[in-house]
Amino acid sequence: MVRPILIFHLFVVLLCLSSVSKGADSAEARGYKILTESPVLSSDFNEQTFVQIWRSWPKDLQLATKDLSQQQRRMIAFERYGLTTRPDDNSNQPLQYVVSEDGKWTMNCFACHGGLVDGKPFPGAPNNKIGLQTLTEEIRETKFRVGAALSRMDIGALLIPLGTTHGTTNAVVFGMGLMNQRDTELNYTPAAPRQFVHHDMDAPPWWYFYKRDRLYIDGFAQKGHRGLMQFMLIPENGPDFFRKHEDDFRDVYAYISSLRPPRYPRDINAELADAGRILFNAHCSECHGTYGDDWTYPNLRIPIDQIKTDPVRLQALSSEGRNKYANSWFAHAGESNQQVTIVEPDGYVAPPLDGAWASAPYFHNGSVPTIRGVLRSAERPSIWKRKSDSINEDEIGLIYEAVRAIPTNETDVARRRSYFDTKVNGKSNQGHTFGDSLSEKELLQVLEYLKTL
Ligand code: HEC
Ligand code: HEC
Repeated sequence: MVRPILIFHLFVVLLCLSSVSKGADSAEARGYKILTESPVLSSDFNEQTFVQIWRSWPKDLQLATKDLSQQQRRMIAFERYGLTTRPDDNSNQPLQYVVSEDGKWTMNCFACHGGLVDGKPFPGAPNNKIGLQTLTEEIRETKFRVGAALSRMDIGALLIPLGTTHGTTNAVVFGMGLMNQRDTELNYTPAAPRQFVHHDMDAPPWWYFYKRDRLYIDGFAQKGHRGLMQFMLIPENGPDFFRKHEDDFRDVYAYISSLRPPRYPRDINAELADAGRILFNAHCSECHGTYGDDWTYPNLRIPIDQIKTDPVRLQALSSEGRNKYANSWFAHAGESNQQVTIVEPDGYVAPPLDGAWASAPYFHNGSVPTIRGVLRSAERPSIWKRKSDSINEDEIGLIYEAVRAIPTNETDVARRRSYFDTKVNGKSNQGHTFGDSLSEKELLQVLEYLKTL
């Protein structure tokens, strides 16, 4: 009788231990709560404005939705702007905004870092549907109509476009513009607006953050909790604000580090995947690492003339801008040590491919809708549009439609912006031709293997 009781005790102890580390008051749980419940920016708009926004929609959509309930229209608005509900929460609040008790909406990190996986909200997944520019324009129009005051975002979006294709944002340029107004200690030092090269990017997933020690596609910044706070650089937030919120962002750091990729929810052919692993290790892992319990990740930067993907992001962030970051409070998160910032990176870092099946579209600019396209450069569509939220099981990634041109009679901005046009500056789908030499059979094996990551 002794043994079962012992085992039972051990079980209880283990259970308690795991709830200590993952419990409601763990750093990671606090981090998630901070992101979803504590506004760190000035508010963008209020609930009443959002309820009225449908009156800024194209006439046909207004007509089609006018007899619907407020709740039904809310869900159509969520879809239009790439907002989702929160997982395991029936409060009807968006994951991407903090909504205070008095109905004020304030954007949070999940606007870009929380989206759908297989049709369900998944915090930490790139939000590949976010329509920030469309939402801001229609909020502005609604505010004019109802006589509400404009927010900083409503005005800022007139100066710096927030994103021209749904699912991508001009976040890096926004960051540079705000950093331009600060000294090293983050004191606000108004400076003349500078010329930036606007370019939209697809946010990376957060579930491989724990593997990386350097961040961003060019890997220029060393990881640290302070670096995560750049997003709060609006002029209202003075230097003290950042210091006061440092502990909160230690928790946010713990939360992001705790995330892991979702598991592929459909069948996987184990035999194909096994063959794919061998090919992957031969052709891909020198850059993308190996997977499984004893994973490795080389954090390897590939020079731009070798990777040959779109170069605009690399050039747009100047070494002056990187230097500014390197000397700032953000890059001093270690035990009094300055972190290592690479001010002149020569290319892009190969990202880990954990959960890659769930992080479409691909490349840092989101120009390729499927992994098949990543591995077959000649098959990449030049103008495309996603067709559903479901998984493309054959090509892995988005279910999309390729078109010759964006229909000229498409007057709805939201629908126009759902086309990805690779001819636009910063949006090209060139480069990364490493899969082209795989035979069709080998390609299918590698694709099957990628589903297991
Ligand atoms: C408007 C969209 C947007 C918002 C809001 C946003 N991010 Fe990002 N984030 C991005 C984009 C785009 C990148 C990729 C930038 C690059 O690689 O140059 C990125 C990159 C990152 C990375 C680097 C990941 C990696 O593996 O390289 C981290 C970490 C991150 N963001 C954290 C945050 C946090 C924390 C917040 C909120 C405080 C936030 N982001 C808010 C768009 C956004
Ligand atoms: C020489 C290094 C190198 C090799 C070899 C390589 N890749 Fe890549 N890969 C990269 C880099 C760098 C990027 C990022 C490019 C960008 O975003 O502009 C990338 C991006 C990707 C992406 C898109 C990731 C995302 O989240 O957007 C996938 C998928 C991918 N590679 C798969 C593969 C596979 C499969 C192989 C082997 C057949 C392979 N790669 C071989 C360097 C490499």
